[in-house]
Amino acid sequence: MRVLVLHGPNLNLLGERDPATYGTQTLAQIDEAIVQDGKAAAIEVQCEQHSGEGAIIDALHAARKHYDGIIINPGAYAHYSYAIADAIAAIGVPVIEVHLSNVAARETFRRTSVTAAACRGVVSGLGAAGYRLALRYFVDVAGR
Ligand code: DQA
Repeated sequence: MRVLVLHGPNLNLLGERDPATYGTQTLAQIDEAIVQDGKAAAIEVQCEQHSGEGAIIDALHAARKHYDGIIINPGAYAHYSYAIADAIAAIGVPVIEVHLSNVAARETFRRTSVTAAACRGVVSGLGAAGYRLALRYFVDVAGR
């Protein structure tokens, strides 16, 4: 089984960006933990970060023939990118949306995710553990 982890804009600054909201771990540290979990479960995990909407869409399209599951944190695109929502819906690979922060408890504009409806499910507010729980879903439930 192969799982792609896609991080959207501004997540490359994790560790220095608003640590009270997003935690103190860097993106590299978060990715390392996901990859290690994957290894322990004999799952190949690839992690990528893209700042642009088009780059995220291209990555979703490219993933459709190579991955069995995708974990995506679209960052702020979650709140308004119908193009990313359409890409998720188009590719026929199960996608789990992850947010580090509890977007339901934040500013009004963050309480809506237009991408979530195209996803299998959403994990929000559990910090970096959210990615690992999403991976666990693919290990335990989605099968291999
Ligand atoms: C985020 C929440 C978004 O509202 C924000 O724009 C981000 C990070 C999160 O992981 O909590 O960039 O997706």
